This record gives sequence, structure tokens and C-alpha cells, in this order.
Amino acid sequence: MALVGLGVTGGIGAYKAVEVARALQKRGHDVVAIMTRTARRFVGEVTFEAITRRRVIVDQFARGANADIEHISLASDIALLLVAPATANVIGKFANGIADDFLSSLYLATRAPVLMAPAMNTNMLEHEAVRRNLATLGARGVRFVDPGQGCLACGWIGKGRLAEPDDIAEAADRLLQPGGSLLGRLVVVSAGPTYEDIDAVRFIGNRSSGKMGYAIAGEAARRGARVVLVSGPSHVEPPLGVEVVSVRSARDMHKAIASHAGSADIVIMAAAVADYTPVAPAEGKIEKGAEPLELRLVRTTDILEQLGKARGSDSRPVLVGFAAESGDPVARGREKLGRKSADLIVANDISRADAGFDADTNAVTIVSATGDQIVPLASKSAVAATILDRAEELLNAGLHT
Ligand code: CTP
Repeated sequence: MALVGLGVTGGIGAYKAVEVARALQKRGHDVVAIMTRTARRFVGEVTFEAITRRRVIVDQFARGANADIEHISLASDIALLLVAPATANVIGKFANGIADDFLSSLYLATRAPVLMAPAMNTNMLEHEAVRRNLATLGARGVRFVDPGQGCLACGWIGKGRLAEPDDIAEAADRLLQPGGSLLGRLVVVSAGPTYEDIDAVRFIGNRSSGKMGYAIAGEAARRGARVVLVSGPSHVEPPLGVEVVSVRSARDMHKAIASHAGSADIVIMAAAVADYTPVAPAEGKIEKGAEPLELRLVRTTDILEQLGKARGSDSRPVLVGFAAESGDPVARGREKLGRKSADLIVANDISRADAGFDADTNAVTIVSATGDQIVPLASKSAVAATILDRAEELLNAGLHT
């Protein structure tokens, strides 16, 4: 059982924080509620007091609470600071180190992990200022529970509503679990296609959507890892709390991954990296003519193979590759496992409509030195969880043969 500091800020979702408190208690945790001034306009402190059976903190200078400087003593007592709902305002304050009330002072004073469940209007969530603040906090190790889509209190339909209380409590619980999580680990994930420029307007790309890699990045972040997602061009919304490095070509992707791989615990190459690139992209636009146009292509560097070579006999990072095949995926996966010195190859058959590129589901076989694991058709996030379970096992065992 752990003590969770539950920060409640002033959004319409504040009433749902009551259910978050209950869901945490159901999982065996003790909760102390900290309400901001605006939160109290949405929901009464007595409700939290009755549920948590603790005095609710509403004021930094409450009489009788200053003898041991409450925000400092609470900072070391809590095992997790959870803010639900987290408004644009509190996100901005945390990102910029502003400490003008109890909750924002507690954030600066605590060394406990911090989990935030943002909730606000879609346009606010997408505003450059908010996105930047979220990225700052993510890079600092703050974890997020993604807001859901749906009908918002302001009448809009879109992203921004507070995640379900049970999902928030589940994410908090995972951060509080001592074993099995990826807390303190660095996971590097590549996703999406690469674009190899032919001239100023044309490129060679592929049909990868990025969904599988983004699902893995989201799951790794939920398990507490610091996640660097190196992504080729993709329309998929990045999971909150993940550091996104946007790249275009195979060469850019190689550079970005190489700069993080040295300190990574796990590298997962889910990107569909181009195997060939034009010898030299033309400057400007190639004009059409009567003659056939020949394009000379050269091989790109195989990033996964390079990582395998660079790792040598070390056990870190655990290396996971994908094999998108239309022939015999498992046989091809096995061949790639050896050639690229990977620990796991996730083989999938891209000729199926319900698996592979752009689908929300996938069916794969995880090929390793110790055997093949068939993962039947499931959502890409469920498949991501299985892949990470296997990678975590290898990481914890230190076995990479
Ligand atoms: N990969 C890589 N760098 C490349 C090409 C591929 O790191 N230049 C990685 C992919 O991210 C994937 C794995 O290698 O994890 C397999 O990619 P795939 O394109 O399916 O296989 P190739 O090795 O390129 O073999 P082939 O195209 O001949 O099937």
C-alpha cells in the first residue's frame, strides 16, 4: 500500500477525481487529496475528505499545518503524485517551475514519480504552448494518461476529455508496482516509413502508417520507461509523455537512433526503413522528357544490423526487429534474427487485410533463439504489450543469445 498525492485541478472532470480516489483505494492505496482553488468551484472538499478519510489540502498556509512545512513533509511521504484532471494551467505551471500554491510547490518538492491526466478543450490541448509544456514535462520524466475522445463539456466533439477513472488508477498502480515495470529504463522505438527524396517534390516512401511503433512507444511509457520515439512521416497522434524525434529519410533515422542507442535498454525497430535511396537527389524538380527516366539507387545502412554489430557481446540494449513479409514470415524472420544479431524478430504477414500496414490490429509470430511465439490477432496495443513482455524478460535475465 502506498500513499498517493491526488492533485485535483479546476476542470469539469474534477468530479471524476472522486472515482479516481476510490479506484486507487480499491487497489489498496491510501490517498491524500490536494485541491486547487478553482477545483473547489467544481467539487466540494468534504466529498474528498469523506472518501479519503484524511484532511483535504486546499491552502498552502492553513493554520496548524505549518509546523513541519506541510508541502515539504508531504513531498517525502507520497509514493506518487497524480494530477487528475490536469488543466492547461497546472501543466504550464509544472513545466515552468511556478510554485504559487500547494500543488505546484509539492511538484517541485517531491522526488516521487509524477503522473498527469490532462483534460481540456481540443483546441487548448493542441495549442503549441500546451504541447510544448507537455513535451517539457515528458522529457523530465512526467508520465501521462492520454485524454479520451468524445463529447466534451463545452459541446465540442474531439480529444480532451479526462481518461476513465479506472484507467487512471490502473496507470498509477503500474507506476507504484516495484517489479515488472520499465521505470528508470530508456526504450528507443522507431516507427513509420522513411521518405527518400528523388528531387525537390518527389520521394520514395512506403505504406507503413506508424501505428505499431506508436503503440509500442505508448505501452513502454505506461510501464514507466523514458521513451524516445524516432518517427518517419506519420499521421498517428504520438502518445503523451513520449519524446518524439521526427525524421524523414533512412539516413536521418540512423543518425537519430545512433545518438540514443548507446544509453538505451531496449531498441525496437518497428519502422519500415527504405533499403534503397537515390544516389543523389536532384536539386529542384526533374522535368519530364521523351526518354525513359532512370533512377539509380544505392543501399541504405541497415540500422538494426549496425546496432547488433555495435553491441557485440554486450547484453544491452535488447534489440527487437520486425519482418514485414508477404512470403513465409517466420522463415524470413528467423533468417533476419541471425543476420541482424537481434534478440527478437516480430514477423508479420502483410498480405492479410487485418494485420500489418495501417490496420488497427495485428497478428504476429515472435521469433527468438529459444523458439517461436504465435500472437493471434489482437489490437496493436495488446500486441505491443506482448512484445514488451518478451523484451523485458530478456532485459531482466540479461540473456541475449
Ligand atoms: N531495418 C533497419 N534498417 C534498414 C532496413 C531495415 O533497421 N535499412 C530494420 C527494420 O526496421 C526491421 C528489420 O530491419 O526491424 C527488417 O526490415 P525489412 O525491411 O523487413 O527487412 P530487410 O532486412 O530490409 O530485408 P528484405 O527487405 O530483404 O526483406
